[in-house]
Amino acid sequence: MQKERKVIWRSPSNIAIIKYWGKHGVQLPRNASFSFTLSEAYTDTEIVFKAKTGSDDPTVEQFLFEGEENLKFAEKVIKYIESISSRVPFLDEYSLSISSSNSFPHSSGIASSASSMSALAMGLCDIERILAGREDLDYFKASELARLGSGSASRSVFPIGSVWGLHPKIERSSDIHAIKYDQIHPVFKNYRDDIIIVSEKEKAVSSRAGHALMENNPYADDRFAQANQRLTSLVSILETGDVDAFCKMAEDEALALHGMMMCSNPSYMLMEPATVSIIKAIRSYRKKTRLPICFTLDAGPNVHVLYPETISSEIALFIEDELLPLSNGGKVLKDKVGNGPTKIK
Ligand code: PMV
Repeated sequence: MQKERKVIWRSPSNIAIIKYWGKHGVQLPRNASFSFTLSEAYTDTEIVFKAKTGSDDPTVEQFLFEGEENLKFAEKVIKYIESISSRVPFLDEYSLSISSSNSFPHSSGIASSASSMSALAMGLCDIERILAGREDLDYFKASELARLGSGSASRSVFPIGSVWGLHPKIERSSDIHAIKYDQIHPVFKNYRDDIIIVSEKEKAVSSRAGHALMENNPYADDRFAQANQRLTSLVSILETGDVDAFCKMAEDEALALHGMMMCSNPSYMLMEPATVSIIKAIRSYRKKTRLPICFTLDAGPNVHVLYPETISSEIALFIEDELLPLSNGGKVLKDKVGNGPTKIK
């Protein structure tokens, strides 16, 4: 019997402040983006690997999601593994049994592609390291492989803050992989992100279709330029810890992303009435209290509420009393900025 070995990696989701929306070529971004790596919403991925006994052996022997066979996910993983095999030569000689589970309910409306693709990429790079007898894991390669699965996943590989996409003001930035971005004021290093669940339904328009619609969006070129300029401004906001300027930036970016969706052809809208009510409640609470609380949105209706850790007790009451009654089911997932992937085994 062939010797089996295994690795298990835990990798988190991330929340973009400067949004990636629009791509070209092989999963290359049209603009640079910045995100905070999260900590509570993560995927654990176990990869058991053993040498193939013949050339007919499949590379992916089995894929389990939450302990069960899942044909839809298995097909995706097999296609992904095939697509990266020229970059990962050991895949010709080894077969993998992969099993993956999330810390958050799959049907919560929370995108799992960033955590799942980065956990898988970390595992693959770790196996490559083990087989080569190397000490250090190649994080840039892990980010590149994660990117090939889902663009935003490239940023989950690094702790705290990460930039993906070539940007003239950010040294070593690249379209090929994300980089760790560490000129970040301490106030942001434990920033909170409470996700108010507005809908648990699968999105009507996938991210893949959304990115594709940017190709004919009449505002696309201005939008890509705007995102890059905003990243220049964000760099100094992050460095100085200017939480008020941060609030404006996060909200402007979220609304630009959703504005692009509404200006696409065909036009579509992922915000729900409850999304808008929650946004308005956050803005009026900020005006009344002058506390630096703001929102951002992913490609979906759920609202990410962002604020410094120091005001978390006030914000917990506000969320409970004023935001949850506006959401459709009163659910919130509490997350915060975190330290990136960890090896479990
Ligand atoms: O990684 P994708 O292809 O699912 O794109 C996600 C893009 C946004 O989440 C909307 C923004 C971002 O930069 O994460």
